[in-house]
Amino acid sequence: MAKQDTIEGIGIGLRYAMARQTLASEVPEIRWLEIHPENYVQRGGRFRHLLEQAAERFPLVTHGLTLGFGAVERAEESYVRPLRDFLAAIGTPWHSEHLCFSGTDGVMLHDLLPLPFTREAVKTAVARIGEARDRLELPIALENVSYYADAGPAEMSEPEFLLEVLERSSCKMLLDVNNVFVNSVNHGFDARAYIDRIPAEAVVQIHVAGHLVRDDDLIIDTHGEAIREEVYSLLDYTLRRLGKVPVLLERDQNFPPFEELVAEVRRLDAIYREATAAWEQAQEPTTQAAGGVQPLHPASGGGGAP
Ligand SMILES: [Fe+2]
Repeated sequence: MAKQDTIEGIGIGLRYAMARQTLASEVPEIRWLEIHPENYVQRGGRFRHLLEQAAERFPLVTHGLTLGFGAVERAEESYVRPLRDFLAAIGTPWHSEHLCFSGTDGVMLHDLLPLPFTREAVKTAVARIGEARDRLELPIALENVSYYADAGPAEMSEPEFLLEVLERSSCKMLLDVNNVFVNSVNHGFDARAYIDRIPAEAVVQIHVAGHLVRDDDLIIDTHGEAIREEVYSLLDYTLRRLGKVPVLLERDQNFPPFEELVAEVRRLDAIYREATAAWEQAQEPTTQAAGGVQPLHPASGGGGAP
């Protein structure tokens, strides 16, 4: 179905509330779209039509809301098989899901619930990710989630938990920069130090979004506000370290006039260009070696683009 080109630069989520403007837009900075398969799998009519229109104009990448890699039970075949067929038809280069759980005993809670940072939860997530990769026949990327309460006694920190899952599952990562920021404020850690620990070669995609700041200083990942300055700044830091990783603007509710989203996309694009140019420059061999002699090895640092 899809004319699948490279996913690069800035993308936005295809949402019904903005679909008409998105597909009619002439905004070169919008390079690709992210879709939730849950909105389209085994659905025809206007959903199918919308998807076909989107695929004609943009490269598509998929982001799921159902599997939750922390789930105790193996996913139902009745969910996985149609999803696999759908992903193959779309031609998505990878499929992402969250490092969380969303239900148990056949009950779906429709929320991204945090996992306890324990060795047992690592083991479960590694098993679920391996199953997803085998059953969906695609590279899998896990996304770090925001959370507001600890899910039980921890045996490790959040980044240690994430790194352990990434390493043991050998999977890719969808790094949500806003979620890192939200958690860093609510749970009191250094967001940049967290970003520094992420293995650059694992990251295939980035999310940014707006969050709500409450009177009691708790901040909530709503996807319903404009992106805050602190998150733009953390994105800039992240791209200077990781290089050309595609960035998605997540907006899922409280939709503003489309022009406001376009303004955010343009600002993200400007940050992307400047930060990734700086990253590229840092990869080039230095010419400042003593006596003008070229170094034997290129300058390192900053990691590699996926
Ligand atoms: Fe996200």
